[in-house]
Amino acid sequence: MRKPIIAGNWKMNKTAKQAVELIEELKPLIAKSKPEVVVCVPYTDLWAVKDAIAGSKIKLGAENVAWADNGAFTGEISAEMLKEIGVEYVIIGHSERRQYFGETDQSVNMRLVQALKNDLKPIVCVGETLQEREKNKTKKVLKKQILEGFKGIEDFTNIVIAYEPVWAIGTGKTATAEDANKTIGYIRSLVRKTWGAEVAKSLRIQYGGSMKPTNAKELMAMRNIDGGLIGGAALKATDFAGIVNYKG
Ligand code: PGA
Repeated sequence: MRKPIIAGNWKMNKTAKQAVELIEELKPLIAKSKPEVVVCVPYTDLWAVKDAIAGSKIKLGAENVAWADNGAFTGEISAEMLKEIGVEYVIIGHSERRQYFGETDQSVNMRLVQALKNDLKPIVCVGETLQEREKNKTKKVLKKQILEGFKGIEDFTNIVIAYEPVWAIGTGKTATAEDANKTIGYIRSLVRKTWGAEVAKSLRIQYGGSMKPTNAKELMAMRNIDGGLIGGAALKATDFAGIVNYKG
């Protein structure tokens, strides 16, 4: 059985002070939750959030990781730096990184290798744009992102994939549960074909894109959907908790 994983992606929101306030509000609301709960927060919030989540079920995540060990990479943050804080998860290849910061399948692959080398658990994002979807290119795009992004990777034990159709991110438009399930089913079949049945069976694949308390239950009921990567709704404790507690 794959354990569901609900992860918040705070993006560029919340100062350290605001972050602690949000965590304090969230903790009692998710104390009895069944899924694994992660918050991926801005680098500047990591220390404060690490202290705030101590003793709770919430796990700490970052929103990216550098591909190099250290050195002349202005603005980047290394795996070693994250590990020292106690970071467990890292988002890699989010569509906003691809769209605004030049992230490619190759850089995703390099960051992924680095994360795994340092025992960080990567949440690797894939997904098609609206234009690609309308041109019926969804499968082709996902195939390229996955085969190039995961090139050379053999051990998927610590890896989570987040399928996030770009047109559903922050737009209020969610893929229908059937649609998301079907596309994630395609991703799983591609993984099966490339890395084998065992990997495909145990790999957790999240849905992301305007997931909220009102649609979480329906999405999470789908056979292929193992969790959610939550943007906007992760910024409000009651909304995020409503998703985490989708079973009621
Ligand atoms: P959203 O963002 O929930 O605000 O659509 C999801 C994401 O970008 O991970």
